[in-house]
Amino acid sequence: MIERHFEVPFVSRLALREKQIQQNYRPVIAVHKWFARRPGTLFRSLILSEFAEQPVHQTFYQSQKMPEMRVFDPFMGGGTTMMEANRIGCAVAGTDVNPMAWWIVRQELLELDVAAYQKTAQQLRGHLEKEIGHLYRTRCLRCGSDEARAKYFLWVKTAHCGHCDKDTDLFPNFLISEDVRHPANVFVCGCCGELFETADRKNPGPCPHCGNELPLKHTAKRNKTSCQHCDHPVRYPDDSVPAHRLFALEYHCESCGSQSVAGSGKGRLFKKPDAVDLARFEEADQKLQALCPKFIPEDDIPDGDETARLHRWGYKRYRELFNSRQLLGLELSCRWISSVNNERIREALATNLSDLTRYQNMLCRYDSMALKSLDIFSVHGFPVGLIQCESNLLGIAGRKGAPVGSGGWLNIVEKFAKAKRYCGAPFEIRHDGLRKVEVPMPGEWIGTWRNGTHPPEQREVLLLCADSASAKIGGEKFDAVFTDPPYFGNVQYAELMDFCYVWLRKLLGDSVPEFAKASTRHHNELTGNANMGRGLDHFAEGISDTIKRSAKRLKPGRPLAFTYHHNQLEAYLPLAVAILDAELVCSASLPCPAEMGASIHINGTGSSVIDTVFVCRTTGRFPKRWLADDATGLAAVVRRDIEMLGDGGLKATQGDIRCICCGHLTRLAIWNLRASWDSKKPVLERMEVIRRWYAAFGGLGAVLTALEKDFANAERSQHWAPTCTLQETYESDDEVSF
Ligand SMILES: C[S@@+](CC[C@H](N)C(=O)[O-])C[C@H]1O[C@@H](n2cnc3c(N)ncnc32)[C@H](O)[C@@H]1O
Ligand SMILES: [Zn+2]
Ligand SMILES: [Zn+2]
Ligand SMILES: [Zn+2]
Repeated sequence: MIERHFEVPFVSRLALREKQIQQNYRPVIAVHKWFARRPGTLFRSLILSEFAEQPVHQTFYQSQKMPEMRVFDPFMGGGTTMMEANRIGCAVAGTDVNPMAWWIVRQELLELDVAAYQKTAQQLRGHLEKEIGHLYRTRCLRCGSDEARAKYFLWVKTAHCGHCDKDTDLFPNFLISEDVRHPANVFVCGCCGELFETADRKNPGPCPHCGNELPLKHTAKRNKTSCQHCDHPVRYPDDSVPAHRLFALEYHCESCGSQSVAGSGKGRLFKKPDAVDLARFEEADQKLQALCPKFIPEDDIPDGDETARLHRWGYKRYRELFNSRQLLGLELSCRWISSVNNERIREALATNLSDLTRYQNMLCRYDSMALKSLDIFSVHGFPVGLIQCESNLLGIAGRKGAPVGSGGWLNIVEKFAKAKRYCGAPFEIRHDGLRKVEVPMPGEWIGTWRNGTHPPEQREVLLLCADSASAKIGGEKFDAVFTDPPYFGNVQYAELMDFCYVWLRKLLGDSVPEFAKASTRHHNELTGNANMGRGLDHFAEGISDTIKRSAKRLKPGRPLAFTYHHNQLEAYLPLAVAILDAELVCSASLPCPAEMGASIHINGTGSSVIDTVFVCRTTGRFPKRWLADDATGLAAVVRRDIEMLGDGGLKATQGDIRCICCGHLTRLAIWNLRASWDSKKPVLERMEVIRRWYAAFGGLGAVLTALEKDFANAERSQHWAPTCTLQETYESDDEVSF
């Protein structure tokens, strides 16, 4: 039972480490981007705590085989539950309303001959090298070789000046690189366009090429600048697709010793584009015009909560988010992929192409500290910057074959091959002091069947692309539902994923019935969306229907466990309604870190990295000490959680503590309201009943006050430092039955 065997310190430590470099702990996630992936280690821990009947630290690093168990996830997303349960042999079923999620999980689970895949991918790169490889070459300023490879092309947006009729650059500032990865700060001169290096970032001094100070008055801020030619004020954006000017390249030269500066082993190579670089882009543009594109999507960008920003910037069609060289490279890739005979490999490469578009578009930004491209989804939105970064489409192999730079075919193929190899032989990573030890899990594998035994081993997998509030999942009942529902208003999965989907659909559309619709948007997607007129009541109804349906599919007393994450109590109302409607009791609310402190969308926002795992059942038992009659009693429970997270290496912040309190308050509301609950009332009234219960308890404020210094003195933002202390806690306790 989870209530007994789940150990917060042990699991927190695992999840914290995983979320720092999730790809190292769960390489399978590299099959394709999905948003808000929960830690695989957390879900493995939940599954084993429930099924293995021992404290989780005793079972986690042992290979498991549980073919008799059946697990369901109604919101499978990127497939965390599916992977973790399938891997130990359980029969799994999953639904997701988004066809991209459905496709991604399918790709994760389908077998692949990795060697044959890599060979075909190599041929694709060979083809692209022959056709357009020269468009990614540049002349090395140091050794003069013409064979250096452009890693990143840096583009600045430009605006038209109505006064002098010229285009003016929209530099927010003139810094390209900080002196972190590169030994000096690199600036672009806003007067003459040359690049120069300085030691002092705050006072770069005059440009050594033209002698002028950097023209700060021409920088662009809050949709305004002054024209670099006539000083006239210029506003942007206007109604047309933004224009860009190539102003710098970061490149890699094999002839003069990788990317290091004069043998120092440090630093990068930058240049201002020369005439050949500019001509190469023109050539790409002409080549594209000469083609009759078959695979470039023509779709309009529909109105939406996230896409509104694109419209404001003048983007009306998806293809306008790409430059000509990117469109050319993607079209040629699609053509080649569509001619691959082996269906499995063709689908794998099509999945790769869809993922590649994240890096091959003019919304990617350049990280001037890490010196790499930030893909379009580095935040959960479509932020439009003023400096955009175009990555090398083919990808660059360094001396030892490993990719140099990011965002090219080589990077995507390497990651995908690693992901699929991991499916054949999953592992865990154990920290032994400072050493990381890869622990193989012989007998575990991810997939639907596997050769090598007679007859081949088979696993039951059911994937449905459907609204889980109405989807019909037949067959035997389940031993557990593990899920991660959407969080009201948090991520607009469909609006964002349409960006990749329009490409994948064009490439594979006819052969995949799930791709019949032009968009992944669905009126029953469970996210608050002003554009689609979906409010909290829609969300509550949908979650309630899904939880009710899922609960009915469970064997008696089996758990429906899900993660949830929000630091406003109001956001928990729909969940509480859903659990009560389904006649479940919430028998545990367990805290666990599940986001990354350094994530761009978390860092500095003061929000929380903690998820609450709600464990719900029709009947069962839990420790009596988890019940509390008042804020003081609940504060004691929360204090214990803070301590356990601390033992796991996480110092809870104020945001985290708010989340923990919300979880417990919701659990107690359900416990106390279950006897009198009337699920026939309209949903807004049902939410009101819970709101009133929260208020009578004193609300979040009362618990935070009762926590005294434990809340008041907690940090406001995240400081992540996982510790290596190993202290397992497991207490037996008085229990409450229900
Ligand atoms: C938080 S995500 C799940 C992420 C997943 N746990 C992972 O780690 O990748 C929630 C998912 O619910 C899906 N979803 C939203 N509304 C749905 C509905 N009505 N029916 C089924 N799935 C839905 C979204 O498409 C999204 O993939
Ligand atoms: Zn060189
Ligand atoms: Zn002007
Ligand atoms: Zn200058």
